[in-house]
Amino acid sequence: MERAIAELEGVKFGLAFSSGMAAIFTVMLSIGPCKVVAEEDMYGGTYRLLTKLLPRLGFHVVTADLTNPSEKLFRGAGVVFFETPTNPQLKAIDISAISEMAHEEGALVVVDNTFATPLLQRPVKHGADVVVHSSTKLINGHSDVIGGLVALNDEELAFRMASIRSIAGCSMSPIDSWLTLRGLRTLHLRVQRQCENAAMIAEALDSNSRLESVIYPSLPSYPYATTALKQMSGMGCIVTVRVKGGVDKALSFLKNLKLFTVAVSLGGVESLACHPASTTHKSMPKEYRERIGLTDDMVRLSVGAENPMDLINDLEEALASI
Ligand SMILES: Cc1ncc(COP(=O)(O)O)c(C=O)c1O
Repeated sequence: MERAIAELEGVKFGLAFSSGMAAIFTVMLSIGPCKVVAEEDMYGGTYRLLTKLLPRLGFHVVTADLTNPSEKLFRGAGVVFFETPTNPQLKAIDISAISEMAHEEGALVVVDNTFATPLLQRPVKHGADVVVHSSTKLINGHSDVIGGLVALNDEELAFRMASIRSIAGCSMSPIDSWLTLRGLRTLHLRVQRQCENAAMIAEALDSNSRLESVIYPSLPSYPYATTALKQMSGMGCIVTVRVKGGVDKALSFLKNLKLFTVAVSLGGVESLACHPASTTHKSMPKEYRERIGLTDDMVRLSVGAENPMDLINDLEEALASI
């Protein structure tokens, strides 16, 4: 599993963990207390780690919009951390531009590549130092494993991570490793189909009068297309929508879905839908969520490999009866 992720990300070392969160935590611990600059739109669990736990261990964490960073943001930073595309707003963060600025300050760049997978984006090629994955998601693809992966070139840092992992006991279990390798063998098929399905769904929903907006990188309204096209070879399987009428309408849309399962994971071959504000991103204070644009009317769709017309019909019918 470790050799496979290293090869896929085009680096020397791979490490497998018991979860994506264990992977991110171990990366941070291996670097040690420092100033961390993180993109403000991120998975709620990562937000909790960065803003609640790391400060207790001596880290100083600053969150910001990395699509438009100020010059002094990176001053004195030890780590710059971001997902791209981000969860759930699908912001594309310019890996090479951020890496250049971060490296000028001597900071390490850690990219969470969960939404893209190495098939669509290889962050190290664009200047990042460390890549992390929640392999719970697309890498495994079958919603039957929880795991995390790290890929990097720095031998000393890899050794420190392996040592922390051994002490903390947060390595990937043999059966999960075996299952994830099984999933990996169809990554190219699944990702291709799921991206095609997601693009069709985004296009179909874009004109739906019950929706305020649809976020997907191939739509004309997507504001980060230049960055996405520069570093990604496909646009992923997540489509995020805002439902007109607020949180009640968003929740009744979820309740009406029949083919999409309402659940918080993503990236599997079965389509899932979730309400980030009350589940995956609940740990973010409401004011923080509102400031970064993560609104209560938002629904995140993880598009699977099913028949796309069945999925579109399910979504349209669920919206029609809210
Ligand atoms: C982008 C991203 N990174 C990390 C994680 C955490 O991964 P895990 O659930 O495997 O701990 C998630 C989980 O949703 C995620 O979406």
